[in-house]
Amino acid sequence: MQANNIAVFGCSGSLGNAFVRYLAVQYPKAVIHTFSRTQQEFESTNVLSHSLDFQDEGAIEQAVITATVEQQFDLVIVATGMLHDEIVTPEKSLKQLSTNVFRHYYDVDTILPAMIAKYCLPRLNRDNQALFAVLSARVGSISDNQLGGWYGYRMAKAALNMFIKTAAIEIKRSNKQAVVVGLHPGTVNSPLSAPFQRHVPEGKLFSPDYAAQQLVSVLTQLSPKQSGACFAYDGQEIAP
Ligand SMILES: NC(=O)c1ccc[n+]([C@@H]2O[C@H](COP(=O)([O-])OP(=O)(O)OC[C@H]3O[C@@H](n4cnc5c(N)ncnc54)[C@H](OP(=O)(O)O)[C@@H]3O)[C@@H](O)[C@H]2O)c1
Repeated sequence: MQANNIAVFGCSGSLGNAFVRYLAVQYPKAVIHTFSRTQQEFESTNVLSHSLDFQDEGAIEQAVITATVEQQFDLVIVATGMLHDEIVTPEKSLKQLSTNVFRHYYDVDTILPAMIAKYCLPRLNRDNQALFAVLSARVGSISDNQLGGWYGYRMAKAALNMFIKTAAIEIKRSNKQAVVVGLHPGTVNSPLSAPFQRHVPEGKLFSPDYAAQQLVSVLTQLSPKQSGACFAYDGQEIAP
């Protein structure tokens, strides 16, 4: 893949950080814009780190405009997301459902990536194949749901997958070379998965570095025909 201008959102996260470090080495001539709610430091000189209030749509718009003044994006990765925090814990049963918890999952896992896409997708390079990828999750697949539970997170990721499909259809009309996809990283050793790692089979808990490398390899082999779908770290398409 030819890449001069790359953006990674959520770069304080385990996967976001791993993507930035890997891409900085893989694409030493590219400028890599990183966005996080808190200022992050990276050693590579081709990384430009920005703090960004993800609650402020105007700030997102301005940040994207500034990052694409000289050249459009060749690759955008949105690595934000939330499964548990000080406000929510994934629900195990109907009796735990709460309006506020649903809203919080939807805010972070669906609306935020959609608002980032709103400003980034029109600024994807039209001269070469350009990629926009959002970290989704296998548990957002309705057909794959065998275990139940995690209502809010599953619903928010399923809605995210629908957003990705819908945006891919729209953007294809103006940018035939664009690829817009969701990504499932596998179970990755990070604060997000930390409380839920007990039942992960041996060898299936990946490091963020491994997952990021796998996902970049999967991403860079995709074609516009595959836009709108969701892909796992091993290249398999995840059915909706
Ligand atoms: N880890 C796994 O096993 C796994 C499995 C399947 C899917 N995923 C998906 O992969 C993505 C990254 O996961 P990760 O493991 O790297 O998680 P992580 O280490 O917890 O990082 C997630 C990042 O998302 C951003 N974020 C978190 N809460 C937010 C909020 N309330 N508002 C705005 N931004 C918020 C933060 O970025 P900033 O602080 O930089 O703003 C945070 O560092 C998520 O979408 C997750 O659902 C992970």
